[in-house]
Amino acid sequence: MSNMFITSASGNIGTPLLPLLLASPSIKNIICPTTNAARLRAQIPTTDRITVLAGSIQHPVWLEQTLRDHDIAIVFLNLTGADELFTTCNFLSAVLRAPCVRHLVYLSACGDLMPRAVFQERLGGLVLPGHVLVKTAVEQMLRGCPVWNDEGRGGGGRTFTILGPTLFFGNDLRGKGGMMGPGGVYGEPVGTKGVSRVDVKDIALAVVKVAEEPERWSGRKIMIGSKQLYTVSSPGSRDGFGVTVD
Ligand SMILES: NC(=O)c1ccc[n+]([C@@H]2O[C@H](COP(=O)([O-])OP(=O)(O)OC[C@H]3O[C@@H](n4cnc5c(N)ncnc54)[C@H](OP(=O)(O)O)[C@@H]3O)[C@@H](O)[C@H]2O)c1
Repeated sequence: MSNMFITSASGNIGTPLLPLLLASPSIKNIICPTTNAARLRAQIPTTDRITVLAGSIQHPVWLEQTLRDHDIAIVFLNLTGADELFTTCNFLSAVLRAPCVRHLVYLSACGDLMPRAVFQERLGGLVLPGHVLVKTAVEQMLRGCPVWNDEGRGGGGRTFTILGPTLFFGNDLRGKGGMMGPGGVYGEPVGTKGVSRVDVKDIALAVVKVAEEPERWSGRKIMIGSKQLYTVSSPGSRDGFGVTVD
């Protein structure tokens, strides 16, 4: 059984993830750092297997000590926000100084986001938005650095798995106010060509599967999403609820 460290436990993925981890026979204790301990405690199951820790994951010294103190073997790294790259870099640095950590599960985004694909092949110079480009940098760090790969290259014995979800269904709920308000703006339109979408519970399930068998998923990127493509007028929209995008 392994102790696991979960970032963004209060968030979209963290919320369905915690009950799934509690039900897993492979996971012992779950450590959840947060900047808002009262809010997180109010929304999670009450059990002595979950520890809510008030502190900043942006503080690498605190982070390294916390990983060591709780003998963390597996980390689920899921970050967002304008400081995502800065925080992630410091986070990875702290993880590498904590020898107890054996496996990192990194939440990225769907598709080939490695620099060659992004800058040369797929997009031909079109610059990705910052919140996606940060994934390119981190995936390159993980895949390119020997310390994260112990497959005969004399690395540090750490392994990683990257999760690549497509667009969350829940994004529409976040934009509901704008859609239903006076302006009727569909702030994040999916367009007419069609996009894959994903339920955050399926991402949470993938995190658990990887945590249960890190060796099996080591060094891989797992894409998660529907095979069906959803458009602005997909089946499932209520009649009369469809939104037209010019
Ligand atoms: N939405 C999509 O369609 C989509 C698609 C593909 C990939 N993704 C990726 O999914 C991730 C978002 O997952 P999510 O929706 O589960 O997250 P979320 O719900 O937005 O997580 C929010 C919480 O995470 C913690 N947190 C996040 N970033 C932090 C930071 N830099 N420093 C400190 N705390 C931070 C905070 O917790 P506390 O307040 O408790 O401290 C915050 O309240 C992003 O990496 C995004 O790029 C999203």
